[in-house]
Amino acid sequence: MKGMRRIGAYEADRTTDNKEGIVVWFSRVGNTNFPDDVDATSSASVINDGGQIKGNAGVLAEWISEETGYGTSQIVTKNSYPVDYGETTEVAKEEQNADARPELTTQIEGFTSYKTVYLVFPNWWGDMPQALYSFFDEYDFSGKQLNVFVTHGGSGFSDTISTIKSLEPDAEVEEGLSVRDSDVPDSEQDVKNWVKEH
Ligand SMILES: Cc1cc2nc3c(=O)[nH]c(=O)nc-3n(C[C@H](O)[C@H](O)[C@H](O)COP(=O)(O)O)c2cc1C
Repeated sequence: MKGMRRIGAYEADRTTDNKEGIVVWFSRVGNTNFPDDVDATSSASVINDGGQIKGNAGVLAEWISEETGYGTSQIVTKNSYPVDYGETTEVAKEEQNADARPELTTQIEGFTSYKTVYLVFPNWWGDMPQALYSFFDEYDFSGKQLNVFVTHGGSGFSDTISTIKSLEPDAEVEEGLSVRDSDVPDSEQDVKNWVKEH
């Protein structure tokens, strides 16, 4: 569509030489065809960082990448979500009720060789976005260290850590930080300190 694009998808990902681990993230940004002139202030979920539109999860992923030296890889769904925030919440609720597995268009090359995976996603309706269920269906985390970060509007992790443990029983799953959406802009040091200490 003219003037509409998936701002944040692909272009936000970083590649590095460090192949020990990877930072995988999902955000509304990159999964929504925002207009080019999207008003970054119109939603708690969209951050305009020096002209680039990013979601909260993307911002956290980038800080983790800077601290670890790992590259980043965004989870992107085939079908994009509505530009309107309220409509997105409705679609997400329908997907949750249907226990849907949205089709993903991204693939992580060489996933089996990574020893450590950082995962960052927003809390959607007290759970992981359904795209994360698709992701766990597709990738095997056996023997990997999985550090989980969530961004949210008040619900924190909800039950996502125990859900992930049951989906990936042979992974070492560690609860990382949960960062409230309004606190994301001020959380760089907390995120980087967590990474340093683990
Ligand atoms: C579809 C949808 C459902 C949400 N459900 C919740 C929720 O149940 N609990 C909560 O604390 N925040 C909820 N939020 C808020 C987001 O988790 C929060 O704003 C997050 O920082 C967004 O990250 P993003 O910019 O990377 O998409 C929801 C947001 C969306 C879009």
